[in-house]
Order: sequence, then structure tokens, then C-alpha cells
Amino acid sequence: MTSISARIRELARQRQAVILAHNYQAPEVQDVADFCGDSLELSRQAAAAGAEVIIFCGVYFMAETAAILSPSKTVLIPDPQAGCPMVSMAPVEAVRELKAKHPGAMVVTYVNSSAEVKAESDICCTSANAAAVVAGIDPAREIIFVPDQHLGHYVQQVTGRKMILYPGCCPTHARLAPADIVAARQAYPDAVVMIHPECRPEAVALADAVLSTSGMLRYPRESPATTFIVATETAMLHRLRKENPGKTFHPASDLLVCPNMKRITLEKVLWSLEDMKHVVTVPEPVRIKALRAVERMVRVG
Ligand code: 13P
Ligand code: SF4
Repeated sequence: MTSISARIRELARQRQAVILAHNYQAPEVQDVADFCGDSLELSRQAAAAGAEVIIFCGVYFMAETAAILSPSKTVLIPDPQAGCPMVSMAPVEAVRELKAKHPGAMVVTYVNSSAEVKAESDICCTSANAAAVVAGIDPAREIIFVPDQHLGHYVQQVTGRKMILYPGCCPTHARLAPADIVAARQAYPDAVVMIHPECRPEAVALADAVLSTSGMLRYPRESPATTFIVATETAMLHRLRKENPGKTFHPASDLLVCPNMKRITLEKVLWSLEDMKHVVTVPEPVRIKALRAVERMVRVG
């Protein structure tokens, strides 16, 4: 453990803080955390955390979701500029407009969204439980799916439910071209291709398994295959390699880097603990409305 990591651990103990990190965090940030996981696991950890303080190493909507679920705890993000561009693609006004055009539709909102948009929603989901959330909705109801069109497209395929898709996407995952998968398969013909459903449908169609980030961590453990192509943010390779020493993992593309996730550094985690900054809060009327949709999400899958 580096000296900065040791200082972080000591200060976390003193402050009674729990450090949560998303699977896309830089390896050294993952290694200093108490818990690493996907969006759904981190939401559940935040809801159940016994600690007074939660340091959220991820992008802003993830820390905001923790603040929605745990209003009595102090939620800190080491860099408040670590936003997710997909969140900005779906301003609340646009979602309200869509709702007005489709009165009576259920609004299913991907957790990669603002607290205001969550407050306009019936239920939230993550990539781990999106299909289960949609499959649980009355077939007679129209569904608006916000904001990730690619995840929405995948959920339509799995569930057979036609939905109204909001036209948002992840700029990082959208970079992955079908040709990248073809090239990776040519380089490693025996490999199993795991892909995140935020990728474009044409790329998803070429993969063997469509998984959330934690689904990607479970899959190789249970698979007899020994070589895997990983079509998501490249930081995933850290835990995959650490937890599966006998297996080989290759990125589908070196370009799959989320610059926002990478804004969180060990130094910023330390400063965050030292200065108790930056506190993430959600105005109470918005939080109460968003909580309903987020709590429903946490219970599915
Ligand atoms: P997971 O919920 O699969 O961890 O994904 C979150 C995310 O932001 C993917 O880009
Ligand atoms: Fe947002 Fe994409 Fe980064 Fe995930 S990888 S946080 S969806 S920009």
C-alpha cells in the first residue's frame, strides 16, 4: 500500500467513513476502497452503510443516488466535476415534455440520470436489472425508457417489449465499433466476448454475453473459457485479472476510457477526507420523489 493509500485508510477509520468505488475507477482507487461494485451494488451498499460518512469514488449521479438513499449520512465526492455526459443529455424539461406526449406511460429511468429526472420517474434501473424491471411492468402500459437508447434497445430485445426510447447514450461506450469486436475476435479466436449494454446495438449483436460491470466479474469465474475480450471501460481489467489469475483478459478497444471516472485520484480521495469535501445533497422535495423510484430499483433483481 502506498503512503497516500495508508493515510486514506487511517483517516477513513478516524472519520468513520466507508469508501465506495465503481468498477471503472483507477486501479489504485479501487484498491483503497472498502467496496467496489456496479451501480446497483453500490446503491445497495450506500443504503445499508453503517458508517457516518460515505466517500463515493465514481461519477456524480452515483454519489447523488447514495444521498437520495441515505439522507442522514454525509456523502462526499472527491471531485464534483466528475459528471456523466449521459445525465446532461436528459434535462428534466425534455423528460417532462416526453411524459406530456405520452400520458399514462410508465417512466423507467436508468440510474445514469439526475435526481430531478429520477423524481419524474416511476422506477429506476441499472444495467444489471433493467430487463427484470421492464419485464415486471403491466404489458398493457406504454413505457418511456430514459436516457440510454442503447440499453433501452437491448432491453426491448430481451423482453420483447416495445418502448419509447429517449435518445441519450454513453459517449465512451458509443465509441466501440462492430469492427473492433471483429478485429478482437480475429486476434483471439477462442475468446469469449463480454459486452456492456451501453454499447451500440450493432456491437452488442456480435458479443457472447451482455453484462453489467459486476456481471462481467462473475461470468469468467463460472465459465470454462480461459480467454475473454472485455467490451467496456478498460479499468474493468484490473479486478478481472486480479480475481482470475489463470485466465487472460483483453480490452475490445483501448479507447474505452471514461474521462469522468478518471477524475477521481488518490490525492483527491485524501483531500476529500481531510476537508470533508465535496458534500453531495439533494433538495428534500426532489429527494423524496426520487427515493420512491430508486427504492423500487434496489428491490429488483
Ligand atoms: P454498471 O451499473 O454496469 O456498473 O454501469 C455503470 C456505468 O456507468 C456504465 O457506463
Ligand atoms: Fe457515464 Fe459512460 Fe462514464 Fe458510465 S462510462 S459514467 S455512462 S460516461
